Amino acid sequence: MADQAFVTLATNDNYAKGAMVLAQSLRNHNTSKKLVVLIGTHVADPVRQVLNRLYDEVLVVDVLDSGDTAHLSMMKRPELGVTFTKLHCWTLTQYSKCVFMDADTLVLANIDELFEREELSAAPDPGWPDCFNSGVFVFRPSKEVYGKLLTHCEEKGSFDGGDQGVLNSYFNTWATEDISKHLPFIYNLSSIAIYSYLPAFKQYGKEAKVVHFLGKIKPWNYTYDSKNKSVKGQSQDPSTLHPNYLLQWWELFSSSVVPMMKESYGNQPFLTGCESVEEVHEIASKVHSQAPLPPQISSKERQQQWEQGQADYMGMDSFDNIQRKLDSFLK
Ligand SMILES: *[C@@H]1O[C@H](CO)[C@@H](O)[C@H](O)[C@H]1NC(C)=O
Ligand SMILES: *[C@@H]1O[C@H](CO)[C@@H](O)[C@H](O)[C@H]1NC(C)=O
Ligand SMILES: *[C@@H]1O[C@H](CO)[C@@H](O)[C@H](O)[C@H]1NC(C)=O
Ligand SMILES: *[C@@H]1O[C@H](CO)[C@@H](O)[C@H](O)[C@H]1NC(C)=O
Repeated sequence: MADQAFVTLATNDNYAKGAMVLAQSLRNHNTSKKLVVLIGTHVADPVRQVLNRLYDEVLVVDVLDSGDTAHLSMMKRPELGVTFTKLHCWTLTQYSKCVFMDADTLVLANIDELFEREELSAAPDPGWPDCFNSGVFVFRPSKEVYGKLLTHCEEKGSFDGGDQGVLNSYFNTWATEDISKHLPFIYNLSSIAIYSYLPAFKQYGKEAKVVHFLGKIKPWNYTYDSKNKSVKGQSQDPSTLHPNYLLQWWELFSSSVVPMMKESYGNQPFLTGCESVEEVHEIASKVHSQAPLPPQISSKERQQQWEQGQADYMGMDSFDNIQRKLDSFLK
């Protein structure tokens, strides 16, 4: 159906990597819906090009520059910046119904049946099951609801500082009114749940349709050895990411997304997290010849992270920092 869409949000280049894998996983499972990504203004051009290939629509959202009520609301509640950007999905009135998915989710099966549900359908949050989790939800774009959500934000703020608090206090009858709006947990399998209730995972885990990579360490915070197909440093944090799902994420990223990134970046040096030591070396020397390295020395902690395979490629470990990382890597 042309007027139904999956929608996600990529506020920066890292979340954009997640969005690329999410789109590819939806396409691999033959979704018949449109794919839409909302992006922040800081997302780099080559990254936008890749998103343009994977998504039907790439929409830049700049709440600060919107000059409308969103802008005014934001002035009153500046702490809710990303939340306002996410609420923007209610303005997509070219679609009659949408499913929002966080960029740190991975689809394991066709989930088009979610469009049979009504606004606002979502899965319970395991931390407080009378609240829904706002990582995957069904909604109907509407300027009216958007306006009400903004007013609600402005007046009430968010009890958890993010969109989940806002949405739960706005859609406050979710817990009791209509059980069909409770999505089964298989639409939000998190590795936290795997470890906290292993027998249930053994019984139902194979039915999982969406995996949500919760927590601070995201798939793109790891690095991947494409020769022996293993994720480096994953043992660092066994409780938050289930190894098989993490591996699936990286396999999709390295096989489908990386070739597109290579085309899009052309001669510009960049890192994907899949490089061998030799390749990092090559890229570093290329970068080194283009721009002088900054003088400061990286902290011990970050060196350790790098050695454990957790590199912050786009931020601290961006191109002009690669040489130093490389030195510590080779130590
Ligand atoms: C998606 O469609 C293609 C072509 O119709 C088919 O070969 C493939 O098996 C389908 N994939 C899934 C996961 O159903
Ligand atoms: C899924 O469950 C986890 C906890 O296991 C929760 O923190 C997360 O936000 C939920 N996500 C979705 C999409 O419902
Ligand atoms: C893959 O290679 C790395 C070193 O390059 C090694 O540390 C790791 O144990 C290997 N993993 C597997 C599954 O062979
Ligand atoms: C993950 O990577 C991003 C971007 O490189 C960085 O901002 C973030 O701090 C990293 N998180 C952790 C827990 O290392």
